[in-house]
Amino acid sequence: MTDTILEVRGLVRSFGKVRAVDDVSFTVGRGQIFGFIGPNGEGKTTTMRVLATLDLPDAGDAFVDGHSVLVEPRRARERIGFMPDKFEPYQNLSVTQYLDFFARAYGLRGRTRLARIRAVSSFCGLDEFADRPSTGLSKGMGQRLHLAKTMLHDPALLVLDEPANGLDPRARIEFRALLAELAATGKSVLISSHILAELSETCHGVVVIERGRLVVTGAISDIAKQVKEQDERILVRVLGDSAAAERFFAAQPFVREVIPVDGRLELVFQGGDDQAADMLARAIGAGLRIVEYVARDVDLEEIFMRATQGRLQ
Ligand SMILES: Nc1ncnc2c1ncn2[C@@H]1O[C@H](COP(=O)(O)OP(=O)(O)O)[C@@H](O)[C@H]1O
Ligand SMILES: [Mg+2]
Repeated sequence: MTDTILEVRGLVRSFGKVRAVDDVSFTVGRGQIFGFIGPNGEGKTTTMRVLATLDLPDAGDAFVDGHSVLVEPRRARERIGFMPDKFEPYQNLSVTQYLDFFARAYGLRGRTRLARIRAVSSFCGLDEFADRPSTGLSKGMGQRLHLAKTMLHDPALLVLDEPANGLDPRARIEFRALLAELAATGKSVLISSHILAELSETCHGVVVIERGRLVVTGAISDIAKQVKEQDERILVRVLGDSAAAERFFAAQPFVREVIPVDGRLELVFQGGDDQAADMLARAIGAGLRIVEYVARDVDLEEIFMRATQGRLQ
């Protein structure tokens, strides 16, 4: 068993003249939740369909738990659970019957089938809905049933295409909690969204694409570090003459820009911690009355904004 659950290598998929996926490579570690982020129409679903062996790439390959989706699609399929962006419950089937139908389709038999149905129902919080018609569920419960179905064959990697789309805030939060629990049990998740903020708290890492091309990928902490090394932001609040403070900081080494925001100054700073400490000492020495001086954390939104400006390798 390796630490990599998914490796995507140089994936290309065109539709006529549109290169929907254009040489995309990334890896997802075992037990990790990776956010697959990009605006609508940028190639997320196309990539996921290739991973799920529902479509063939023009070039490149992807390996699910070491199995090529091109060379060993059956093996890859056994290890992947794909949740498409549309959920279609079946008329006249209860929640349990719906799960039973797919469990049979996946070739699960006898006690194993019952045990799997019970496990996924309980994990997804569907127990009290067991006898409800599958078509009569709320959007949030419908998504849980969809996820339960995707988990029936106990895949190591779940590929979820915009699962939070159309959910109300409460259902979104509950769905996020479910993902965190999944990762805690050792499962890996690739989850797409065109809404950035949705994934920033849940994910270990991200894959950001734009017009089919990879913009940035990796652990969020690594990317944040990279951005930080390029330029850190320091927020400063000074009592008194803010114009003087602005002039002081603008003249300091390593300060690339001073941006006044909400009564504070945001310094775009290219030095390290040592230089930041020295600058604080100088500011106080120069008589500035500083009440706040904090390095601001880089959030996912900012990483995306910078990445798409091509300032990140
Ligand atoms: N079956 C198809 N035939 C033609 N064009 C397609 C097909 N599927 C996707 N595309 C095009 O490929 C691009 C990427 O689509 P998609 O992967 O669905 O993006 P996303 O999931 O990021 O919104 C879009 O320009 C879309 O119109
Ligand atoms: Mg899509």
